Amino acid sequence: MVSTFTVTTLGSTQYLGIQGEGPEPSPNQSLLPLTAAVNQADHLVVGGCDVVDLVEQFGSPLYVLDDHTLRTACQQYRRGFARHYPGEALVLYASKAWNCMAVCAIVAAEGLGIDVVSAGELFTATQAGVRPETIYFHGNNKSLEELTLALAVGCRIVVDNWLELQTLATLAATASQPVPMLLRITPGIECHTHEYIRTGHLDSKFGFDPDQIEAVFEFLANHPQLHCLGVHAHIGSQIFELNPHGDLGGVMAQWLVAAQAYGLALTELDVGGGLGIRYTEADDPPSIDTWVQTVCDSVVTACQTHQLPLPRLLCEPGRSLIGSACITAYRVGSQKQIPGLRTYAAVDGGMSDNPRPITYQSVYRALVANRMTAPLDQRVTLAGKHCESGDIVIKDAPLPVLQDQDVIAIAATGAYNYSMASNYNRVPRPAAVLVHHGEAELILRRETLQDLIRQDCLPATLGQTPQT
Ligand SMILES: Cc1ncc(COP(=O)(O)O)c(C=O)c1O
Repeated sequence: MVSTFTVTTLGSTQYLGIQGEGPEPSPNQSLLPLTAAVNQADHLVVGGCDVVDLVEQFGSPLYVLDDHTLRTACQQYRRGFARHYPGEALVLYASKAWNCMAVCAIVAAEGLGIDVVSAGELFTATQAGVRPETIYFHGNNKSLEELTLALAVGCRIVVDNWLELQTLATLAATASQPVPMLLRITPGIECHTHEYIRTGHLDSKFGFDPDQIEAVFEFLANHPQLHCLGVHAHIGSQIFELNPHGDLGGVMAQWLVAAQAYGLALTELDVGGGLGIRYTEADDPPSIDTWVQTVCDSVVTACQTHQLPLPRLLCEPGRSLIGSACITAYRVGSQKQIPGLRTYAAVDGGMSDNPRPITYQSVYRALVANRMTAPLDQRVTLAGKHCESGDIVIKDAPLPVLQDQDVIAIAATGAYNYSMASNYNRVPRPAAVLVHHGEAELILRRETLQDLIRQDCLPATLGQTPQT
């Protein structure tokens, strides 16, 4: 596997990995965290920490999150807007990719705001100290309790539909000041990973249909307690093409023009997220800077065309900020050879810590973290430990002959892994460590068996109450 990476020797450490543009590679173009290296013991190193040692210390499975890669991605987004956009800009981290207090605190410290989609994500962000005015609350079915909480917190609310708009207007009527909100509108740009289409309407559960915007603007004009800051659109995820975002500015600028007719001067334009990352060598996403430039050019050109003042420009990347910053380490357990057919090697996690392969048939790359330069002389199907035949981490991965207790590292597991993790089969969720300059700090404790029954109630009629 190492042969598929560029290897640079610095002192006694070989640095892996990094395909990208310019002197500082774009994290989303790198298969491994930017600090990935091989040490003299032939072990994988991330953030200066030997991954085999980390597994010994913290157990497995283990999410290993590289502080440097995450911060570099944040900084590249911010610098990109400073370079390419003449107006004000704010990058929001789409925390659905990985929402926990430490991650919220890191991105906030890097000057990003946060996009949340539930009371739980909102609560986590506020507990991590994120400033309310930098939190944007999305969701297509926010409950009354969630909207009430959002008002109490003082975050921005991205209104998705009529019911929410009407509910918010009722709540805002008794608020001490106008409630800051945006509108989510479906832009008629539909993206699949490698292609996109433009349609008048989108078959999407999210957002107002473009046909509805005049009526929505009229409603807002009659409800001054709702302070509409701007409009939002999100066109998809794991996108490699630049054209969809190149078109989006033009579509959204028309909404700003339409709002003017109702006396609404909208000042914010949020283009959503979606930039893809490299999961395998076959993936070739544009760099963060190129994506930002495309977005900025699109908005600037559209505003010039429509003689609009430049709005405050927002975007909300998730995957491209955190996806490449993390690896998941597993231990190898049982193996099964089916002669002439396939070799299976089971790891001690799977669909409960990474549901993407079984949900989306996502493809990952694996390394043997304790034998990094071992020849890749077989194809092995890495299987999870759950009771589903489809619980396969990677099918037919090129790997060395595996040994019991080998440490497998799966690349690019920072996005939509922990955040989509479950307790399927009552498997406790893994721990996560943040690595930086050779130090590892726990950011998520491993769940215990006791944690698994924390919410269980055993009525007296059914037996004894479990001991806590
Ligand atoms: C509204 C919204 N914003 C941002 C994102 C983040 O997308 P990504 O992780 O692809 O950047 C998503 C994810 O699908 C989303 O639904």
